[in-house]
Amino acid sequence: MPAPVSYHPDHGVAVLRTPNSCYALRLGADGSPRHLYWGRPLPVDGLLALPAPRSPAASSFEDEAAADELGIQTGARFGPAGLQVRFADGTAGAQWQGAEPRIEGGELRLRLTDRRFPLAAELCYRVRPDTDVIERWTELTHTGTAHDGPVTVTRLDSAAWTAPRLADYRIGHLVGGWNSEFRLHRDRLPVAETVLTSRRGLTGHHAAPWLALDDGTATEEHGEVRSTALAWSGSWRITVHRDPVGRTTWTGGYGHEGLTWTLRPGETLRTPVFAGLFTADGFGGASRAWHAYVRTAVLPQPLGDLPVLYNSWEATGFAVDHAGQLRLARLAARLGAELFVLDDGWFGERRSDRAGLGDWTPRADAFPDGLRPLADAVHGLGLRFGLWVEPEMVNPDSDLHRAHPDWVLHSPTRDATALRHQLVLDFSRPEVEAWAHRTLDRLVRDNAVDWLKWDANRPFTEAGGPARPGEPGQSDPDRVWIDHVHAVHRIMDRLRADHPGLRIEACAGGGGRVDLAVLARTDQAWTSDNTDPVDRITVQHGYSQLLPARTMAAWVTDSPNPATGRTTPLRFRFHVAMAGALGLGGDLTRWSEEELAEAADLVAAYKRIRPLVQHGDQYRLTTEAGTTAVHYAAADGTEHAVLAWRPTTHFGHPAAPLRLPALDPGAHYRDLGTGRTHSGALLHHRGLDLDLPPGDYASRLVHLRRTDG
Ligand code: DGJ
Repeated sequence: MPAPVSYHPDHGVAVLRTPNSCYALRLGADGSPRHLYWGRPLPVDGLLALPAPRSPAASSFEDEAAADELGIQTGARFGPAGLQVRFADGTAGAQWQGAEPRIEGGELRLRLTDRRFPLAAELCYRVRPDTDVIERWTELTHTGTAHDGPVTVTRLDSAAWTAPRLADYRIGHLVGGWNSEFRLHRDRLPVAETVLTSRRGLTGHHAAPWLALDDGTATEEHGEVRSTALAWSGSWRITVHRDPVGRTTWTGGYGHEGLTWTLRPGETLRTPVFAGLFTADGFGGASRAWHAYVRTAVLPQPLGDLPVLYNSWEATGFAVDHAGQLRLARLAARLGAELFVLDDGWFGERRSDRAGLGDWTPRADAFPDGLRPLADAVHGLGLRFGLWVEPEMVNPDSDLHRAHPDWVLHSPTRDATALRHQLVLDFSRPEVEAWAHRTLDRLVRDNAVDWLKWDANRPFTEAGGPARPGEPGQSDPDRVWIDHVHAVHRIMDRLRADHPGLRIEACAGGGGRVDLAVLARTDQAWTSDNTDPVDRITVQHGYSQLLPARTMAAWVTDSPNPATGRTTPLRFRFHVAMAGALGLGGDLTRWSEEELAEAADLVAAYKRIRPLVQHGDQYRLTTEAGTTAVHYAAADGTEHAVLAWRPTTHFGHPAAPLRLPALDPGAHYRDLGTGRTHSGALLHHRGLDLDLPPGDYASRLVHLRRTDG
């Protein structure tokens, strides 16, 4: 078994191996590491013999460095540079004097030092056991003294990735907006630079820091796919460059254009991880490999089932009080919920979105004895107690803002833009971070909080005013774009460490901050404020490209749906939400006895398939005529759950049999709903008859158990 990371000094070649792929790079004569290979496993002698990537035309006009592992601005390089710097004397761009590779604790580190100036970049690579994901990041250090002056950084990407020469290139990426997150687009990659970005200070609803590249022929279960994801919860940029001579590279990292950061002597900037994955098993194979990586290497608490939660937001909005919340909690407990989450409206003068944010003490008129009596009553019902917070934000009409008007992101000479009547607190200021941590820590402790829903309902504006040297966090104003995000991560990490039972749900006006970095310190993400089940099928399809179902919060809410006005049956709403971490979010006081009874049955059905949905392997399935399905298989292949949905009937035609390619053709499976046993070969090759009821919004849950060996 070859080592996961190796360096071959005679050839200047480093090789990383995962179970189903390998990655190789060569140190170039000019000191820049160049990409050699990323694809199916190859023997080392083949990799060592590979020629260095060269421009196809020998011309003084051609870019010779398209395959840099991290692009710089010097030499015949004309693509997007991942490292852009300016030194104290005005010189732009690094020029390396050779790399020193070392392998440390399973990591490959290539240290590059500038020929003239006090700058070192370490390109870092890590392979995690049992996944095909390669993690990459960069550490940039000012190696000089005060005498050398600062180094100004205008771009510091985590890594650049290179695709092999393909007949064509197609990019899969996620687009959206509030109420319409995670919509998958697959577009032919233009011969151009394509920029995916968020300039919002948050990961963003509009684009996700993930992409998948193929030659245009990959399908759900076949074909080579190269896919990357950036672990960052603030602004980011990924630039994909398909050049006119057929090469494709992409460079990505935090920040967006126009920001500068000052690197001080002795200081190191460490970028977020930009993870990459190769698979030969199509888009489904890529997603399953990402899901396994997220479960084993990213999530802080990968084991155990996530609870069925009830959240009061869609039922009560801001009109919360002790009695009303307890009434909902009792009904939720009756349905089988295991966690009750009190959402917005419980604090300060928060009777609408116009006031109170920042004042994290319970509203005296709604909770006269504080929150503890509600928490105790909820615990008494056998449910865990969850609480909504939005710690990074403040309403100008709040005691916090009146006391600390300077704590918000602002520029003294510019008007601050209020969005949803709120401003963003500057978490890059140590005293603001300390206040936020203290406030949350006390809330959790005093109220026996088991679950925090951490929301953020607006992007940054007017971030980075004039430098105010000497003031904490203000000497390098653009640093707020990075430092704020690190402070959010740090607070979450500290809360988890100090309260080991605490779980956190990531939220930013729905799915505005969902990424590998936030999921490293949270347990699930609120996918979208749009809970319409038809729209959710699309949203969930996109979400599942990178992230596993256990992280995807999915509520059943009232019908007609508040976002779309669409009326759908309870069963259909449940069957769609059961494909993720099931929650309930409707006004249960208005549900009929029949609806409550049906909902309780469906919650119980979810609990029976929950281990499959939350820990199993996911296969996305489609039949013709608008029926889609998702199949979750236990790792040992003994149990399977299939959820199939047909929002609209077409000509009254029955759905085609649903083929289940993940089943073992040599085995037999019993349908626990009908009691019928089917041969695996039949389900695999011919398909399962879904027997969907006639009409729109038809759905079915099938739970299969293997009956033999
Ligand atoms: C946005 C969230 O996505 C909603 O679920 C809810 O918590 C509201 N904020 C509360 O203001």
